Amino acid sequence: MPLKEIDLSLDCGPLPDEVAALLEQADAVHVQFMRDNSDWGTGFFPSDYVTVYHALNMITRLDLATGPSFCEWGSGLGVVTILAEMQGLQACGIEINRDLVDEAIALAEAFDSQAELVHGSFVPRGCEARAEKAYAATDEGVAWLSTETDNAYDDLGLDPDDFDLIFAYPWPGEENVIDELFEHSAAEGALLLTYGQQNSVRLQRKVKRPRSVEWKSQPASF
Ligand SMILES: C[S@@+](CC[C@H](N)C(=O)[O-])C[C@H]1O[C@@H](n2cnc3c(N)ncnc32)[C@H](O)[C@@H]1O
Repeated sequence: MPLKEIDLSLDCGPLPDEVAALLEQADAVHVQFMRDNSDWGTGFFPSDYVTVYHALNMITRLDLATGPSFCEWGSGLGVVTILAEMQGLQACGIEINRDLVDEAIALAEAFDSQAELVHGSFVPRGCEARAEKAYAATDEGVAWLSTETDNAYDDLGLDPDDFDLIFAYPWPGEENVIDELFEHSAAEGALLLTYGQQNSVRLQRKVKRPRSVEWKSQPASF
């Protein structure tokens, strides 16, 4: 099923106090995390949380999602997942780095958030080869996305097609890997919000392929 682009104009008004407080604390946690992990290759790159907050806010205000279930693929310090929960979504995040998961859980607890943050891979089981194939098509030297799979969805008691909105921040050049995994595993109607460089966000919806296209793409059997 193809992904349809949705135009999302952001209304960047002032941040609510609880959001501003979370982002201030998240900055401090990030600085400390980088100090404690200075030997960690490329380091940890968060998205611009203010931009992502406004995007989530617009999606919820316009009621664009088919339901309240949210998942952050590669949730890092868990900030976007906590922001989603603050906006009334049933939010969870999956992160492959255990130290980041521990920081994320501590941050969620500090803000009394019900966001669920689990350790594991967001690559659905059975999709490893698909992710690796999509990766092979990228020409980026740096790779942050791990293509291994595990049981993170079992831990959550949810499947990838249970989510109404998925957020990810792919490294530049890796966007197609996220698109491919989402297109393959998300439910019809689900939304994919991605953060890109220079504070840009992109919103896409998984839609049904038009019948004429389905027909044209079938190999001739007569
Ligand atoms: C660019 S960071 C973005 C973090 C966070 N989403 C944000 O917006 O600040 C990407 C994160 O994805 C994690 N990651 C990479 N591959 C993963 C996988 N297969 N499953 C879960 N997390 C993964 C990395 O460890 C990293 O924390």
